[in-house]
Amino acid sequence: MEYGKITDKILQELIAVCGASHVFTSREAIADYAHDYTEDLKFYPEVVVKPITAEEISQILIICNRERIPATPRGAGTGLSGGALPVFGGVLISMERFNKILEIDERNLQATVEPGVINQVFQDAVIEKGLFYPPDPASRGSCFLGGNLAECAGGPKAVKYGVTKDYVLNTEVVLPTGEIIWTGANVLKNATGYNLTQLLIGSEGTLGIITKIVFRLIPYPQQNLLLLVPFQSAEKACEAVSAVFRAGITPSAMEFMERDAIDYVKKYVDVHLPVPDDIKAHLIIEVDGNDLDALFKDCEKITEVMNAYGASEVLFADTAQQKAELWKMRRATGEAVKSHSIYKEEDTVVPRAELPVLLRGVKEIGAKYGFRSVCYGHAGDGNLHVNIIKEDMSDEDWNTKVPIGIREIFELCVRLGGTISGEHGIGLVQKDYMTIAFNPVQIALQKGIKQLFDPKNILNPGKIFN
Ligand code: LAC
Ligand code: ZN
Repeated sequence: MEYGKITDKILQELIAVCGASHVFTSREAIADYAHDYTEDLKFYPEVVVKPITAEEISQILIICNRERIPATPRGAGTGLSGGALPVFGGVLISMERFNKILEIDERNLQATVEPGVINQVFQDAVIEKGLFYPPDPASRGSCFLGGNLAECAGGPKAVKYGVTKDYVLNTEVVLPTGEIIWTGANVLKNATGYNLTQLLIGSEGTLGIITKIVFRLIPYPQQNLLLLVPFQSAEKACEAVSAVFRAGITPSAMEFMERDAIDYVKKYVDVHLPVPDDIKAHLIIEVDGNDLDALFKDCEKITEVMNAYGASEVLFADTAQQKAELWKMRRATGEAVKSHSIYKEEDTVVPRAELPVLLRGVKEIGAKYGFRSVCYGHAGDGNLHVNIIKEDMSDEDWNTKVPIGIREIFELCVRLGGTISGEHGIGLVQKDYMTIAFNPVQIALQKGIKQLFDPKNILNPGKIFN
């Protein structure tokens, strides 16, 4: 069945819901909503609406459902799999006016927020109360919490503290058919029925539009130590990762950057980090807690492990400024690679100890199909971001050979017990590869869920599945 188009009559209805000053159709006004952070992809919606209540969203979706018009929810547009791209045009629902922290409940260590709150703004607000919201994607300075839920965002702290889903207790959601529901309860345990909250998290805006989020929080750890560990072999660096956990330590971050990633980012942001020629990779390792002596002991043990895997001299970030620089460097890596060349970013994830095999496989597959890759990411989670760089590769090779190579990389992930996305989602750009991760029975179950929530397939169509 074809999708409907936005007629004048429908536009008037949308204006009646949101107000004329919150409905946009001019090319300039909607240009920013035609792309996210995914490659150089652009899809223009027909209209952008900026509602401010769940009731308004409900009315918008009722109109879209009646007319079978595609509706694409959008947070800050920092996504890396094209989840917010309005691939069939239609209505783009920007959540930017849902920007309030509604309550920080210090008695229960919970907070209720709207989905358009910026991750960092929320983190800072709870830190002021001595509380901690750990999920911290690289884009935390601009990404919205709603988008973090939609993609189940991770980030460097996930290795110790878990990902977005581990902090969400309950959500208010508008269904594609217009009903407004709560998915759970504001409790730390819940064995009541199916877990709709967790079903919505990571559903990439295809099952409902989240309008309120109840988070659990934890006490803020007062101390942290940060190590930078250079290696002459990238594979050895990856081998050292799982050994740290086997030695009984869970760092609060365990990040990997191969040489090229470091070189790119040094050109992109102003960081002072001399790297000798023979260094092929770095691990960035953080430990945190409240007992500084215990953290120093952890660092001693980590250093022993690193040395056993052939690390060069382990460096301590001594000052807050050095720590901030290292994190700035790590967080800017994705953007640095993006600024360098046309690229494709893969979000591979395997059981942690398989990381060296994955890295080796990625390089072998790249050599076979003639592409270069820059790898970095959340090594402690076995989550390796593989950036495939176009540079001077021909368009033909880029369009024919690279997809075959990506397929082989994903097949390797699955063979190693992993999967094809750890934290960026499937969205638009990975959906062709879903059959690598799931068999027809598994896909049919997921499509059945979509059908149940969204019988006319109006909400963020063209995502996750073909
Ligand atoms: C990062 C983003 C790309 O880890 O996930 O930098
Ligand atoms: Zn990441």
